[in-house]
Amino acid sequence: MMNGPVEPFKIKMVEHVGMPDEKRRKEAIKEAGYNTFLLKSEDVFIDLLTDSGTSAMSDYQWSGMLLGDEAYAGARNFYNLEKAIQDILGYKYIVPTHQGRGAEHLMYSHLVKPGQIVPRNMYFTTSKLHVELPGGKMVDMIIDEAHDPENEHPFKGNVDLKKLQKYIDDYGLDKIAFVSVEQDVNMAGGQPVSMENLRKLREFCNDYKLKIIYDATRSSENAYFIREREKGYENTPIIEILREMMGYSDGCIYSAKKDCLVNIGGFLATNDKDIFEATRNMVVVYEGLHTYGGMAGRDMEAVARGLREGTKYEYLKYRIHQVRYLGDMLREVNVPIVKPIGGHAVFLDAVKFLPHLEREQWPAQTLAAAIYEDSAVRSMERGAISKGRDKETGENLFPALELVRLTIPRRVYTNSHMEYTAESIIRLYEKRNTIPGLKMIYEPEYLRFFQARFEKLSL
Ligand code: F0G
Repeated sequence: MMNGPVEPFKIKMVEHVGMPDEKRRKEAIKEAGYNTFLLKSEDVFIDLLTDSGTSAMSDYQWSGMLLGDEAYAGARNFYNLEKAIQDILGYKYIVPTHQGRGAEHLMYSHLVKPGQIVPRNMYFTTSKLHVELPGGKMVDMIIDEAHDPENEHPFKGNVDLKKLQKYIDDYGLDKIAFVSVEQDVNMAGGQPVSMENLRKLREFCNDYKLKIIYDATRSSENAYFIREREKGYENTPIIEILREMMGYSDGCIYSAKKDCLVNIGGFLATNDKDIFEATRNMVVVYEGLHTYGGMAGRDMEAVARGLREGTKYEYLKYRIHQVRYLGDMLREVNVPIVKPIGGHAVFLDAVKFLPHLEREQWPAQTLAAAIYEDSAVRSMERGAISKGRDKETGENLFPALELVRLTIPRRVYTNSHMEYTAESIIRLYEKRNTIPGLKMIYEPEYLRFFQARFEKLSL
């Protein structure tokens, strides 16, 4: 029986991938220090490390690449990108950057003063760091339901206004740099924010004259969930939903590598002239001129076209349902996953999957390595290793969510790839108590999850 919507595209070009045998898989993951970020791509059969920069572009995007205007200043592709952002997201001003963290750097270093806090609906790794580098601190204001993998709340990305109020009361208004809201919250499992919540947050922040800056990286996928789950939006075009969402903010940072269906790129966008002028001034220091910001002309064209394409309802419907297809196969046989199934990935609950491991034996890191060893499927740890250490005490932080992310690249894999992946995970779940934990033997100072190394413990 067919499951979910059929792919609204056909495949015009393929890339061959090899399957390393069991001996090579064991060697490869050991050589990589049991960190899937350190595996060579050629040792990977199905790559579910990330949905970032891994999309398959359309023929329309590729043809746009040939129209790249590689002038240093004022390339036509910049104006196409500016127009696409104005049309789809409704912001007036844009500053292009090489990718999302370039935009975070410019936006957050402008808005955050030493000693200030940034309340956010759960942290993201690079976002947290770019708040900390100028001397700020990111604090969590997501609803409690988001920390419980079993809770089926339809909008687990929502902001808890009571928590925000408490930060204002405890720290004082002048200590709040701005309010940061992520859409389709990555670390919570790809969970959306509702329009009602965004609207209420805007009213709340208006009372205090607080700025709201979105991380709109996965806003198109969030808009799909609003249409699917929120009363009154059942028939609203995705672009209208997006424009209403963005209308409740003062600006956004955006990693184009996700919902814009491209391999590289990013930007910030705003209606606030001060933010625009300050960040446009800094972009030339760190990224490149304000009409390319680290992207080639051809890349800007691909982003401009991809931003429009990625808001098509039929595409988004297929996209979200493919992720759900993988999640449902696991859920049916009680493999512990984050519920409801999110927008860009299926998240395994590693603490429940490997209950015999201590948190300092890194269950999620262990499970990601074990999945690779079993099937050459590459996934990613999203738990204590990603969270890092407390900036003040130096202690390891253990977030409630200790997850392995099976992230689905857009338009890249078929449903048989999803079935192969599910089979491997189910096989491992059946023999889960034979999987030993890991010991961290190398830890870099920043964003340790990218380069940390581990050794296998014995059971
Ligand atoms: N914000 C969010 C919500 C992200 O998921 C990412 C990247 C960024 C900002 C930074 O953007 O990579 O273009 O510099 N997420 C990737 C991931 C790395 O795998 O989740 P970037």
